[in-house]
Amino acid sequence: MQVLGIKTDLVRPGDDLVEFLVRAMNRSGQAFQDGDILVVSESIVATSEGRVVDLDKIQPGDLAISLASQYKKDPREMELILRESDEIVGGIPGVVLTLNNGFLFPNAGIDNSNAPPGHVVLFPADPKGSAIAIQEKMANGKKIGVIIGDSRTHPLRLGCVGVALACSGLEAVEDARGQKDLFGRELKITRKAIADNLVSAAQIVMGEGDEGIPAAIIRDSGVPIKEASGEIPTIPPAECMYIGALGIGPRPYAGGYDQLIECAGQAIAMAYAPYSHFKVGAALLTKKGNVYSAGNIENASTGAGICAERVAISQAIASGEREFEAIAIVGDGCQPISPCGICRQSLIEFGEDIIVIMANCKGDALTASSRDLLPRAFTGKWLEWIF
Ligand code: THU
Repeated sequence: MQVLGIKTDLVRPGDDLVEFLVRAMNRSGQAFQDGDILVVSESIVATSEGRVVDLDKIQPGDLAISLASQYKKDPREMELILRESDEIVGGIPGVVLTLNNGFLFPNAGIDNSNAPPGHVVLFPADPKGSAIAIQEKMANGKKIGVIIGDSRTHPLRLGCVGVALACSGLEAVEDARGQKDLFGRELKITRKAIADNLVSAAQIVMGEGDEGIPAAIIRDSGVPIKEASGEIPTIPPAECMYIGALGIGPRPYAGGYDQLIECAGQAIAMAYAPYSHFKVGAALLTKKGNVYSAGNIENASTGAGICAERVAISQAIASGEREFEAIAIVGDGCQPISPCGICRQSLIEFGEDIIVIMANCKGDALTASSRDLLPRAFTGKWLEWIF
């Protein structure tokens, strides 16, 4: 197998990427052969599509400002991350992990390397469409495949490997199940990430910086060129070993409990909070369809105070309810409220899959399960396991 880098001129927003690639190939005497696979970096695709944003033109909203301070990021960049992603899974100082169409991205794929000062490059608008268009325009009668490639780290590993974001003309993942291992045993879960592996190979010559090699031709890989869907298969978070093992943080509320949130908001009026003046409302929906709502109850002896959630839970339990579907909590702070540890413990007593919606009065809301909010919780199971 051969990997041949394509050294192009600097591509600027609005440039015709195919024209740049063809010119570069002609200049170096490169031409496609049947079976070649062209790997193109996503950042060059995005740049040519004009997906470059001047950060000074971005006005961050309240949520972006508070998340930016939590994750130590530029609020304008955080605003773009919120606009570009479906979910913020979590983060560490400097980087948030986002989900977009089932793909995990650092910072929603927004990059400030290879962008002019004060600018960032967004993720390509339609990587699959771009892969198909590049393949159609560049094939010139040859059977070629095209992959739009990006780079990623693996958990706990230092350094990036290649990952395919879209492809055209090849099958991204080969199902090797049913094939035999060296000892004749059937392979059970092995699937080969062909497209990702090809991007990794291409990145050996492409580099990440000022090399000016944003694409590479992979020759004689043995990967068949065929009419394939170009889909990059993903698996749901619950079936993913990493996400499944590590849990997933609160994500933006996507609807379904608007009435419950409204009820929790109204319960704020019931709050007795003369000391902190921080009023909270909670509304608990039981599996029978009943709703119990309450505000927090403070006390001159601080420790005797009770959070809104526990007042609502107590009401429900005292009424004979034991099974809960969801709880909405609304605080009058600038960020969606975060239930305290005691309330998380009180809630998980009655189920690990209770949907928790955390909101503020401005309509910002996050959601998580009771298990997400209290990983490895101490529950009745532990008492059974002792004996
Ligand atoms: N509080 C709640 O009622 N629920 C929460 O999720 C967080 C905090 C209350 C307790 C106290 O009355 C006030 O907020 C300030 O701590």
